[in-house]
Parts: sequence; structure tokens; C-alpha cells
Amino acid sequence: MTEFKSKIKTIEWTGNSSRMVNQTILPEHFEYVEIKTGDEMFEAIKTMIVRGAPAIGVAGAHGVALYAQELEKENLSRDEFVGKLLEKADYMATSRPTAVNLMWAVKKQKDVIINSKSDIKGIVYELKENGIRLENEDIEINKKIGDYGAEVVPKGGTILTHCNAGALATVGYGTALGVVRSAFANDPTVKVFADETRPRQQGARITTLELTMDGIPTTLITDGMCSYFMKKGMIDLVVVGADRIAANGDTANKIGTYTVAIAAKYHNIPFYIAAPLSTIDTSIKTGDEIVIEERSREEVTHINGKIICAPQVNIINPGFDVTPHELIAGIITEKGILRPDYKKSIKQAFN
Ligand code: MRU
Repeated sequence: MTEFKSKIKTIEWTGNSSRMVNQTILPEHFEYVEIKTGDEMFEAIKTMIVRGAPAIGVAGAHGVALYAQELEKENLSRDEFVGKLLEKADYMATSRPTAVNLMWAVKKQKDVIINSKSDIKGIVYELKENGIRLENEDIEINKKIGDYGAEVVPKGGTILTHCNAGALATVGYGTALGVVRSAFANDPTVKVFADETRPRQQGARITTLELTMDGIPTTLITDGMCSYFMKKGMIDLVVVGADRIAANGDTANKIGTYTVAIAAKYHNIPFYIAAPLSTIDTSIKTGDEIVIEERSREEVTHINGKIICAPQVNIINPGFDVTPHELIAGIITEKGILRPDYKKSIKQAFN
């Protein structure tokens, strides 16, 4: 298994609280924030102190454990405790709407609450332990995704990625950037082109930071440039992450991903999704059913606190788009690379 050089652990349970990298101030400042209550966790997810589908899944799980710790102090009967905690868990799952890993991880915690035979103290303990287990599993899963994905990276290849599906979008190692890390470990001539990813610039602020920390040659481009470099033959494949994948393979990821996928198809460049099975939502048939987060106008009107447009201009700011399954060459998971027909290969992966 590939060794992870970068020391980043994006989110970690530290006894009675959750510690996370504050991603809103990267790359200028690298600071950890300690989250001590469930409500603080809800805000940390909503305001994107922690972001990236698998990372907010673990954050949601920690958030439920934090709510449990708080309710433990309220002198409730066991039934009251369980009832209130399940309500808090449902609330936590609404902190962001698109990435299904959040709902998935909260559901895992709800299963612990519902199935536990323990007293209140025991339930709190089990929730903390389950949060830690999800943390550890995430890194293991990403390493598997990375190693499967590395097999499709040609020698000396250049990988284009969009947004940040790296160590900082997960607990560690990353999904799309896990593929990059594993490929680079086998072949140090592999290179990356990173899309800036407006409006929040996760590609510029976060992907370039974590890849250059690992010594991986990385070129930053703005979002409109990808076709230009594809036409010049400078991109060999695209690998991006995912926030939610429907049962037919349609994939929601950061806004702009769909444009990259269309450009890749036109230039005959394979376009891959790298994601854990927890990102696949088999309860929805197609991407049309995915709820797309609407974000604030300021994300578009301002860069680093400075206005960049006429103040009264209309703004629409969807956080994600859905890439139709026809544009996807493969979905790289911890169980291997799923290929079309996705309805069949996704079903098989869950058996
Ligand atoms: O809004 P964000 O920064 O949470 O969006 C992140 C993405 O779209 C990532 O590509 C996706 O979550 C995959 S992370 C492994």
C-alpha cells in the first residue's frame, strides 16, 4: 500500500472534542479549530471550515457525538435522551444538502443510537468510538481508491483535476488526489494541472497547497483554460471527486466539473470520478434528483473581500453541477473501477 507523505489529518476526534483544519483561511494561514459542541459543528460544516464530501461525513458523525455529550449532562431518562439525540442527528444532516456522505455518516451514528443496548454513558462512548472508526476507515478507503486509480494513469501522464478532492476534503490522502499520490509514488514523472475552481477557489487555495507540500509537480490554471490545454495534447486524463453519485452513475461534484467533462469528451480524454462507495446514493435513480446547494452572492461578487463586479448585478451561485454518466469513463472506488453500464456495476459493487 502506498505511503502517505503529507502529515495533514483534516479532522480528528481528540477525546471530548473534534479538531479540524480551518479551510476558510488556507493557504495564507494553517490553523486548527477545536469544535466543542454540536451547534459549533453544524456551523463549521455550513460555513465550510470543514468541506469536501468525506470530511463533512466524518464531521457530521463527530457532531452527533458532541450532541450526545451535551445531552448526557441534562439528566434525561434513556428514552428522552435517545429521542432528543435522534432529532439532533437529523438536524446535523441538514448542515449542507448535496454531499450524501454527510447523511450517510449521520445515519451510521443513528444506527448506533437505535441499536445500542447500553445506558446513556455507554451510548456516548459508542458514538465517539464509531466516529473514530469512520475517521480511520476513510484513510484506508482512500488509499485503496488511490491504488486502483493509479493503474489508469499513463507513464509520465498529466492529470487534470477540479476543486479539491484531496487529503483536505477527506480525513487524509484524498480520493482524486489519492489517485495522484499513488500514481506519483509509482512514477515521479506524473504531473497535475489544477483548476482554480471559482467561486471559492478550492483548486487554487487547497489543491495546489497539498500537492506542492508532497513535491508533486502542479500547474495552476483558471477554469476557462482546460479546453485550450486539452487541444494542445497537454492533458492525458481527468480525475475529480464527487459529492453524490446516482444509481445510474450521474455525478454531482463542484460547479464547473460538467464543463470539464464535456471538454474531455470532445478531446477524447478519459474523465474519471474517484469516490468511496459512501458517495453513491442508490436511493436516487438519476442525477436529476440531487439537491444542488445554492450559495451566497458574495462568493461570486467578491474575491478576498474585494468587489469584482457592478454591485447591483444579478447573481446565481449553484455550488455543484451534475455530470451525466455518459461522459464518465469510470468511477474509481475502494472496490475497484466501476465501468459502464453503471446501473449494473454500481449494483454489483454493493453486493
Ligand atoms: O463545496 P466543497 O468544497 O465541499 O466541494 C467539494 C467538492 O466538490 C469535492 O470535489 C468533493 O466533495 C469530493 S471530495 C473528496
